[in-house]
Amino acid sequence: MNEPPAAITPPLIARVMDGYRLGLSGIHGPGHWRRVRANGLALAARTEGADAELIELFALLHDSRRLNDDHDPEHGPRAAALARDLAAAALLTLDTARLDLLAEACARHTDGGTAADPTIGCCWDADRLELSRLRIRPNARYLSTTAALDPALQRTAWTQGTTRALLPAPPGWPIPRR
Ligand SMILES: [Fe+2]
Repeated sequence: MNEPPAAITPPLIARVMDGYRLGLSGIHGPGHWRRVRANGLALAARTEGADAELIELFALLHDSRRLNDDHDPEHGPRAAALARDLAAAALLTLDTARLDLLAEACARHTDGGTAADPTIGCCWDADRLELSRLRIRPNARYLSTTAALDPALQRTAWTQGTTRALLPAPPGWPIPRR
């Protein structure tokens, strides 16, 4: 689980953090990214057709262009633009279909919808299960995957979120301040 995926390299992470404007201890910061990653990988392991590497990229990027921790409705589209910028700068090597999928997952992750695509579904569910950090229980109506309904998986996400657990991640991932 902690093998660094080929797509996430130190230069890519450096570029992500270059444009990161919030603190390292915030509710949308690197601690959250790590827990979204863990939730997403757990979901991917139970979801046929889910692309674990894209889910890790989503975890790293999706909130990285927030300008505040409150109302910032354009942060998803900005994360999608970042994914495309990273690809244009050759810091991210994905074929067009996978880049489009990552960009869509980022762009629309705050719209409140569900996704039929297994990868996007895992991304959004991973983020929704992390509402646990705000002590909000997941609402099945807003979950996309069957895996996210699993009580054991939900329990783990709840414990990790409510305690704001500092989870391991591959070397190079930004380190949250607690
Ligand atoms: Fe998030």
